[in-house]
Amino acid sequence: MWPYPRTLAHRGGGTLAPENTLAALRCGLAYGYRAVEFDVMLASDGVPVVVHDPELGRTVAGSGHVNDYTAAQLGAMEAGAWFGPAFAGEGVPTFEAVVDYCKAQRIWMNIEIKPAPGFDVPTGKTVARATRDCFAKEIAAGELLPLLSSFSIAALDAAREAAPELARGWLVEQIPEDWVKKAKELDVVAIHCDHQQLTPELAREVKEAGYGLFCYTVNTPERASELLAWGVDGFCTDRIDLITAVE
Ligand code: G3P
Ligand code: MG
Repeated sequence: MWPYPRTLAHRGGGTLAPENTLAALRCGLAYGYRAVEFDVMLASDGVPVVVHDPELGRTVAGSGHVNDYTAAQLGAMEAGAWFGPAFAGEGVPTFEAVVDYCKAQRIWMNIEIKPAPGFDVPTGKTVARATRDCFAKEIAAGELLPLLSSFSIAALDAAREAAPELARGWLVEQIPEDWVKKAKELDVVAIHCDHQQLTPELAREVKEAGYGLFCYTVNTPERASELLAWGVDGFCTDRIDLITAVE
C-alpha cells in the first residue's frame, strides 16, 4: 500500500536550504534524509526543471516566468542567494540533474508534477516520460520506483497515459467527499493531503479503502507522531532538523 519511506524532506532540504536546489538535496542528506519531495515544471524548451513557482522573483532572481526561459538559462540564474550568501551561485537544476544526484546518493523521490498554468498535459507527459527513461533499468528489475504526484488532474492523466508503469499519488488540500470515485478514475495508489485538513476518520477511510496516505507539510515531531498513529503512511517536512528521518 505504501512501500515508500515515511519521512521526506520537502523541496529537498525543507527550510534549511534554498528549496528545490542541489544544495537542498545535499542539506537533506546531511540531516539523514534519503527521501525527498520536489517540484517539476517545464522550461521554455520543454526541458523539465526543478522549481516551485511559475514566476521568477521569490526564489529565483529575475522577472517573468519559468517558461520564458530555457533550462540552460534557468540553470545560470541565481536560485540560492535569496536564502543566504553561502548558497549564492545555486541555479535552477534540471530534473535530470536532480534525479542523477538522488540516484547516486540512493535518495528516494516523490516527484511532484507542478505545471505552469495551461501546461498541465505537456508537463505530466514530459515528467512521466523523463522519469521512465531515467529509471528504465529499475523498471526492468522490478525495483522500487519514484512516486509521481500532482494537484493537476490533467497532469496525472497525461502521466498515466505516457508511462502507466509509474505509480501516481493524487495531491489535494482537503480530501473531497467523492474521493474514492475520483481516485479510482485517476488510478492512483495514494492520496496526498494537507495534514491540517485531515481527520482520524478520513485517515481510516483512506487506509481501509487500500490507498497509501501521505501528508504535507508536517513540521513538529508531536504532529508527526499523531498522524502516524492515525494511520498516515508518510509525510514531508520542512523541519528536517526537528524530525528524525526514518525509512
Ligand atoms: O507534495 C506536497 C507539497 O509539496 C505540495 O505543496 O506547494 O509545497 O508544492 P507545495
Ligand atoms: Mg511540492
